[in-house]
Amino acid sequence: MSNYKINNLQKYNDVYKSSVNDPEKFWEDIAVKNFIWKKKWDSVLEWDFSKPEIKWFKGAKLNITENCIDRHLKVRGDKTAILFEPNNPDEETQYITYNQLHKKVNKFANVLKQEGVKKGDRVCIYLPMIPELAISVLACARIGAIHSVVFAGFSANALATRINDSKCSMIITADGSFRGAKTIDLKGIVDEALEKCSCIKNVLVAKRIMSEINMKNGRDKWLETLLYNASDQCEAEIMDAEDPLFILYTSGSTGMPKGMVHTTAGYMVYTAYTFKNAFQYNENDVYWCTADIGWITGHSYIVYGPLANGATTVMFEGVPSYPNYGRFWNIVEKHKISQFYTAPTAIRALAKQGSHFIENYDLSSINVLGSVGEPINEEAWHWYNDNIGKKKSPIIDTWWQTETGGIMITSIPNVTPTKPTFATLPFIGVQACLMDENNNELEGNQVEGKLCIKFPWPSIARTIWGNHKRYKETYFSAFKNKYFTGDGALRDDVGNYRITGRVDDVIIVSGHNLGTAPIEDAINEHPMVAESAIVGFPHYIKGCALYGYITLKNVSESNHNDNTRKEINELINIRIGPIAKLDKIQFTSGLPKTRSGKIMRRILRKIACNETSKLGDTSTLLNPEVVKEIIDNALM
Ligand code: WTA
Repeated sequence: MSNYKINNLQKYNDVYKSSVNDPEKFWEDIAVKNFIWKKKWDSVLEWDFSKPEIKWFKGAKLNITENCIDRHLKVRGDKTAILFEPNNPDEETQYITYNQLHKKVNKFANVLKQEGVKKGDRVCIYLPMIPELAISVLACARIGAIHSVVFAGFSANALATRINDSKCSMIITADGSFRGAKTIDLKGIVDEALEKCSCIKNVLVAKRIMSEINMKNGRDKWLETLLYNASDQCEAEIMDAEDPLFILYTSGSTGMPKGMVHTTAGYMVYTAYTFKNAFQYNENDVYWCTADIGWITGHSYIVYGPLANGATTVMFEGVPSYPNYGRFWNIVEKHKISQFYTAPTAIRALAKQGSHFIENYDLSSINVLGSVGEPINEEAWHWYNDNIGKKKSPIIDTWWQTETGGIMITSIPNVTPTKPTFATLPFIGVQACLMDENNNELEGNQVEGKLCIKFPWPSIARTIWGNHKRYKETYFSAFKNKYFTGDGALRDDVGNYRITGRVDDVIIVSGHNLGTAPIEDAINEHPMVAESAIVGFPHYIKGCALYGYITLKNVSESNHNDNTRKEINELINIRIGPIAKLDKIQFTSGLPKTRSGKIMRRILRKIACNETSKLGDTSTLLNPEVVKEIIDNALM
């Protein structure tokens, strides 16, 4: 375990240096000493960002589930692998040991095989945060099927788009889900989606809310019965290092969501190594990441990273506000959580509730606090530090992306210093840089530019499913020989990075990436709408919320249109899901455009952010008069 745990600043500096001076040697050393392989690699790294093509551990053979489960059985078979905390606090916690997880995953894997799933097939998983979600992910990996988890808050339409894009042959879902005091009819959403998906042959349904649902003969089967009859032994499929492990969709600036493809060996090595170090995990710690497995944070830091380290990882089914705003802290106390990892949007929502929800609970078990998904503002940072960390637990502000697979910029608790609102230093092996408008790399400190990465790291996504051209255009075309993140950032006087936000048309609402194009498409479907443009504006809890400027076909109808507002949000709800609803809708007689007809979002963004003094010269627009009208009627 030579370099595996970074436990002081000197070591961080030394290890960082060796990881960038000789990345191949560095990652080979980590891979050899900390994982089990059926066959070693022929080369550690082959890469060419101009194609782009990236291969880590080429020729190696392995199965990630043997690394996440089987190898722990001898040493920690009876240790809890997954700690499941149900939505309802009166329902019992489930402690699934590594031995039990092994059996459950094998049974599930046998069911998949029996239902015709083969290596390389895509399986869509549309489940709430119940153990079956993690187990089905691992069962796919066990047999070499590619999982595509779709967050169970997405609508039928969004689900169908994702199923069709990767041509999934099976979907795994549940009869419904609990969300606070509500239940959600997941199976109904799946049935509706499947009307548009001819590729799906089988639907496996987990029982969760015990509701009466419609089961389509020949297509739908109860998971419970199949699992009951399946054997708990299933040989792990031998996978190539570069075989796809999963597809996960993320929003782009334009068009369809992008199915990011992650492969097996590099992803395993990087998520395991970052988990151990970013969270400074110790053998008996109970670690809790509050994300949903439907997002990359859940894939890498609820399932794969923790399990590869033999950790105890918590899965929470519910919401922070149920039965009241003390729920998170109740769980922290109950399970003596050591590392707590959440998103700024949750922190702000909880901060707003005041401290009496915290005072009743003992939070002294917490050693490390994590933040992810969006920039954390100063106020939220201090609230988190003072009230949850009691000023003794370092906050790690982890910057990374679906595309990066693992944490890229973060401090390391009690090793490197924290700084409010700064993600701080690049993680081991990460060669970050800032680029200016003229495509030059900004040298030195106290500079601001576009954030790029100069060298591959093991868990970089290898392609976009079915669209390598888009992969190249999106990430490798803006700057020669560099991976472009889509984020802006600045570097302080000692090299700490602060992420300033997206520089493209992706808007992050409550930590969820939303592309403006699909939302505008949904709005434009409304029969009364002529045109629309969406921008983000600062929101106290969500970080960023959506402001829609909408031109109706018949302008005179604009004034009495609360109904139209409702209908538009309902359309968005149907097409994408509730997370993409607009907070503000302003009807306008037109949208500001360049002479070539391009909508000037920059201007609309400034108006939504109440920064009209910074609009700049608008006289060259095609329709400058509309700007005044929009400012006069802006919703503040
Ligand atoms: C943003 C989530 C500031 C960023 C893991 C990035 C952040 C996008 C941070 C990726 C952070 C994520 N500070 N911004 N600590 N973490 N972001 O793909 O804009 O859901 O590009 O991955 O979230 O979001 P994604």
